[in-house]
Amino acid sequence: MKPLKIAGVGYSVPKTVITNDDLKKLYETSDEWIYTRTGIKERRVVSGDETAIDLGLDAAKKALDKSGLKPEDIDCIIGAASAPPQLYPTLACTLQDKLGVPNCVPAFDLTAACTGLIYALQVARGFIGCGLYKTILIVAADNNSKITDWSDRGTSILFGDGAGAMVVTEAEDGIDDILSLNMSANGTIGQLIQTNFPSQCCPLVEQASEVGTGKIIMNGKDVYKFAVSTVPPYVVDCIAQSGMTSDEIDYLIPHQANQRIIEAIQKRLNYSDDKVISNIKYYGNTSAASIPIALVEGVEQGKIKLGSTAILCGFGAGMTWGAAVVRLRKGIC
Ligand code: COA
Repeated sequence: MKPLKIAGVGYSVPKTVITNDDLKKLYETSDEWIYTRTGIKERRVVSGDETAIDLGLDAAKKALDKSGLKPEDIDCIIGAASAPPQLYPTLACTLQDKLGVPNCVPAFDLTAACTGLIYALQVARGFIGCGLYKTILIVAADNNSKITDWSDRGTSILFGDGAGAMVVTEAEDGIDDILSLNMSANGTIGQLIQTNFPSQCCPLVEQASEVGTGKIIMNGKDVYKFAVSTVPPYVVDCIAQSGMTSDEIDYLIPHQANQRIIEAIQKRLNYSDDKVISNIKYYGNTSAASIPIALVEGVEQGKIKLGSTAILCGFGAGMTWGAAVVRLRKGIC
């Protein structure tokens, strides 16, 4: 396998902030209830004509800028979107056009919900590893707020909008930035988080008994149990495969779904707070974008020093989950 270099990372979030207190205008709740159960104080949402595509474009430009590469250097674009503003043209195809990436370059979205970044990284690793493409742009962008049922206080407290982008390329120096990477899925528990299209059969035939709402429907309690039982041991296995010990890895950068889930992984690794990157308090769950947002913001705030290593992990609808031990080179964000 040819080695992969993480060359640039960027993120973008909308300006509009919705606090827990704001949500009291929609239903009976409290900042205390939400914060103690989730660690979330506020989230960002798109407004007006703004969509995840605007956020994805901004994040992609920042990642490209940091990588020192140009749109014409990109050989392939992978969109990791679970709540994009449109099913097609895909996020990846739309960004190809907006970024000015040459129009013969392949562009497609994959749907692995909040694990999308890890899945996209694995696909990119395979493409680069076998020499099919040299430089790949990964963009994770979702406007969850547009598919949230804002009358459901069990789900609408959790999600926010955001985008993260990563430029990955063949490592000319032979140093692979992916030390280990695993991805998994279990469709038998897929009903734990669902978004079903509003749809109808041909008017000439019998109609389906159920019509989708297009909104997120979630069994929060069981998702929580799934995450705390599945992700911590998986992360431990991924670290073992990297040939490193958990002590040798500098940071844990987990998907930001619930502070208590983050703490369960932290406890399993026996990490001190300074090794764990959490910004869920300010953004909620931004799906696949949450890891790159946490990474870049962690660097901006001085919590992450580059020239280091990190364990990334994600989980979400599908159900899907994944983890990766990566090198974070200087200058990537
Ligand atoms: N404010 C106040 N009360 C609320 C509320 C809110 N926002 N949401 C739910 N409640 C109430 C419920 O109605 C219920 O009341 P009842 O007992 O009278 O019926 C009670 O609080 C408990 O609800 P429950 O849904 O069992 O709470 P919980 O302790 O499981 O917490 C979550 C709910 C969503 C915070 C928690 O299950 C969770 O975070 N799960 C993981 C979800 C996740 O991470 N999903 C994304 C994965 S990528």
